[in-house]
Amino acid sequence: MVLLPRPLMAGVLALLVSAPVAFIAPATAEPSTRQAAVLRASQPDIIPGERITLVAGAPTGAGYTSLSRADRRRTRLVLQRRVDGAWVKVAAQRLRTTRVRFAYSAPRSARGTLTLRTVGKLRGRTFRGGRLSLPVVAQRLSSEPGALTTRSSVAFATTLTPLRAGRPVSLQEHRDGAWTAVATRTLGSTIAVVVGTQAPAHPVWYRVVAPAWNGVPALTTAPVRTTLDRVPGVVAHRAGAGVAPEQTLAAVQRARADAAPAMEVDVQLSADRELVIVHDHLNLKRTTDVETVFPDRSSDPVGTFTLAEIKQLDAGSWFSPEFAGERIPTLDEVIAAMGGEAGLVLEVKEPALPGNAGIADELAAELASGPLGDLAAAGRITVSSFDHGWLEAFATAHPDVPVGVLTVAPPSAADLDAWQPWAEEVHPNNLFLTRSDADAIRSRGMTSSVWTVRTVADFRLALASGADRVITDFPARLAEVVDPPRPAA
Ligand code: G3P
Ligand code: CA
Repeated sequence: MVLLPRPLMAGVLALLVSAPVAFIAPATAEPSTRQAAVLRASQPDIIPGERITLVAGAPTGAGYTSLSRADRRRTRLVLQRRVDGAWVKVAAQRLRTTRVRFAYSAPRSARGTLTLRTVGKLRGRTFRGGRLSLPVVAQRLSSEPGALTTRSSVAFATTLTPLRAGRPVSLQEHRDGAWTAVATRTLGSTIAVVVGTQAPAHPVWYRVVAPAWNGVPALTTAPVRTTLDRVPGVVAHRAGAGVAPEQTLAAVQRARADAAPAMEVDVQLSADRELVIVHDHLNLKRTTDVETVFPDRSSDPVGTFTLAEIKQLDAGSWFSPEFAGERIPTLDEVIAAMGGEAGLVLEVKEPALPGNAGIADELAAELASGPLGDLAAAGRITVSSFDHGWLEAFATAHPDVPVGVLTVAPPSAADLDAWQPWAEEVHPNNLFLTRSDADAIRSRGMTSSVWTVRTVADFRLALASGADRVITDFPARLAEVVDPPRPAA
């Protein structure tokens, strides 16, 4: 062994320990192979599953460099990975040039440090190559939303560490039962990116996703949802026609159980001038057994039947056998069944029909001394009608009772200007009311109640227009729209 002076010996030993590859300078090495064999990665660390490129140089030891050029080119450079103390082959290539590239995928199970090396192999001989240790890192996605309000711009400040330039990041919205990308950004030279969108008028769930990329599995943040900027009021249409036979006391009780803050019913006159709660004005066939009880009069309108006759009709069986025996109620019975909290929207149906002639007088009498007056005094009633002339006259006669103008077509500015002096509310068809219509109503000091809201899509339409109230067959359904269930991540 050649003995060197101590400082020089220490330097050589340090070089042997720190070099990425065991390197012993050959006594007569070719100039092109005097450098240490290298094994380099395209990046300083690796994510489980990630595909990277490795660049490997030819062995530099004397054994290899002293080979003939032809044998050097016949040598296979084998890429190996250290597994449980042993070297396991990963890939191999002929050394046609002094440098080769390996496409390498880290195992999904990789943790800690990946140790790789190359060795040259030729006819049973082995030549030491390069060696590389790569820290295995978990990539982390985090995202902080800004304000999460319906009908506003939502933005998610997102970071993905460690950086992988080119990896896309998407903002997804949960729509119709599936996650849908609404915005995508691609990471550039920094780990941070903002993904955002315009939130719809109804609450929705969002999440941020870094889709599977370059062998790395997808990363997903926990869903978060927007919150309604303004929750509309609920009016149970026909006292909740979707869940009980319309306008019966059973429906009123169900609307109370559903905590409907208000209910809407239609009022007409019986032959003996009682205020009865029933919708159809042509006849009673649709919602009663009038064809069985009064077969000769089944095509006649309600105003031809006395209250005693009306009370013989079954108004529940048509909806479901469980409601057999429900009766058409009077206005007083409905008010009594409502209890002491809910509001009432009383639609005066077809006041110009002969059978309903004088209904204004009966209502005036009720307001003066009946339960309707108590309701009005408590501010819990709105009277509505499609008959605008009748409604204006009623409003003029009873300025303390709020009225709502029922309309199918969206109201024009001229309509609103005409109604504004005597009406407190406008009740447009939900399908046609736009946001600017609702704003135009509000700008004249009136509020809007849209009808008839049944499906989730109907509710979303009402939220989009910004109507103040929804008149709905399903009063409990608003909760589904206001607080949609958290989707699976
Ligand atoms: O209040 C609106 C709504 O009741 C109008 O339609 O036919 O159900 O009385 P209709
Ligand atoms: Ca009605």
